Amino acid sequence: MKVLITAGPTREKLDAVRFLTNRSTGKMGYALAEAARDAGHTVTLVSGPVTLPFPAGIELIFVESAAEMAEAVKERAAQMELIIMCAAVADYRPKQIHLGKLKKQPGNFLLELERTEDILSTLGASKVAGQILVGFAAETDDLLTNAAQKLKAKNLDWICANDVSRSDIGFGSDENAVTLLGQDSRRYGIGPDTKRAVAEAILEIVTDSGR
Ligand code: C5P
Repeated sequence: MKVLITAGPTREKLDAVRFLTNRSTGKMGYALAEAARDAGHTVTLVSGPVTLPFPAGIELIFVESAAEMAEAVKERAAQMELIIMCAAVADYRPKQIHLGKLKKQPGNFLLELERTEDILSTLGASKVAGQILVGFAAETDDLLTNAAQKLKAKNLDWICANDVSRSDIGFGSDENAVTLLGQDSRRYGIGPDTKRAVAEAILEIVTDSGR
């Protein structure tokens, strides 16, 4: 299959030296890309800034901001049979990017943020027939309820509910545990296990019985 996977955080510039980002390290997305490659799929990986080694045999596209990730994904989405949005895309970006370095001033500094495009919602709204669309829901509260809502709202085939309030799994860790929710209330518990093993299990389920 032609597979597109996104991974890592985005960086939203504030000024010449500062940005907003999050704790995603890209490990889960890279594990998915490598597992997909090893299962014989043709893989494109759209990656935010990470410090992981470049995986061989995968088309790798580096982006920084949510807007760049949106452009890279939307350009390629129509040809893809499976898309897994594993990236922790920023929901907001500074409304103004200052060209130089902002100087400190006395008193507080109020930063206005604006919404970024929800890439996955865009893909879900214009889904190509037969395409399998998978999202991740990183949650600290009401994990399964929120994940199930996102599955419906974003018109996905599957969503991986990921509890990121635990330090032993999730962001930065080498292990993960997810609940994979499908349409028609299909539900699979995967892990705790290495991110590579979790990636293999996710791929097996979504490619065998997905859509
Ligand atoms: O709504 P929430 O951000 O929790 O949804 C998470 C899912 O949506 C992930 O799969 C993430 O990659 C994707 N997402 C996106 N564009 C955004 C925010 C999230 O594609 N701006």
